[in-house]
Amino acid sequence: MTFMAWNRPHLLDIESLTPEEILTVLDTALAFKAVGARAIKKVPALRGKTVVNLFVEPSTRTRISFELAEQRLSADIINFTTEASSLKKGETLKDTARNLEALNADFIVIRHSASGAPHFLARSIGAHVINAGDGAHEHPTKALLDLFTIRERKGRIAGLNVTILGDILYSRVARSDIWALTKLGAKVTLCGPSTLVPRVFEEMGCRVTHNVEEAIRDADIINLLRIQHERQRKTMFPGINEYTQLYGLNQDRLARTKPDALIMHPGPVNRGVEIDSRIADCDRSLILEQVTNGLAVRMAVLFLVNGGKGPQEITVG
Ligand code: CP
Repeated sequence: MTFMAWNRPHLLDIESLTPEEILTVLDTALAFKAVGARAIKKVPALRGKTVVNLFVEPSTRTRISFELAEQRLSADIINFTTEASSLKKGETLKDTARNLEALNADFIVIRHSASGAPHFLARSIGAHVINAGDGAHEHPTKALLDLFTIRERKGRIAGLNVTILGDILYSRVARSDIWALTKLGAKVTLCGPSTLVPRVFEEMGCRVTHNVEEAIRDADIINLLRIQHERQRKTMFPGINEYTQLYGLNQDRLARTKPDALIMHPGPVNRGVEIDSRIADCDRSLILEQVTNGLAVRMAVLFLVNGGKGPQEITVG
């Protein structure tokens, strides 16, 4: 167990976290996962606090996971969607957030299509801000749950070969994963078409290759990313079928990986595109474990941002 103190009012990105802070989140999440295995799964850590889930972009996993985490921590919850709000009438994000603060919101969990929106809010208001995914920039809780899942299954992060395969350029998950994995000593390989995996990513401490066979051969973890049609301003490769042929994880390619290599995907999955449907459901796939672990990780983040110092402080009651 790591007993480093957490001392941040927000979680905006992974880039600014120290390895010790990342480990504090993972260890705190481990304690919350144990709480989740008990008959009474609720703790009073956020009793009397109000959390607004401000999702200006669609989400299934992250939104529901945060909401359940907030319920488990006994918070009062407001779910905010663009469609039913005055954002549709042109109200600015800052004015929206200041109005939420005027109603005593203590936390704002924000998903936004604009990179930097959570950082802007954190500078503009007094509430705690948690980034639930901002544009193509970062998705910090996603990376933390990936690390939690890898450490749980492999017993360590340092020294593992982790291959991230797919649409890296437009992926906030990839950026947060790269920061988190390299900070904890994993060896990260990025692979995909050169248009989606430019060599500039080498500056983040990764190896870049466009040869999928080479990228997955020695991998302990293969993390597949979906093609993000909504963020691609123009076609970055000739067609989906060609992408699947050249970069999709199929049974032939899986047979040439290490027998204990594990498969991850942040979801939503494009079955039959970046991953063969049978592989998504096979016993080497961690896709649903990632979702399960996301709950404990998000409880840990909310707990720490609220002033908790680490797993040693978690009391059940
Ligand atoms: N991976 C992920 O963030 O999923 P959602 O968009 O459904 O939240």
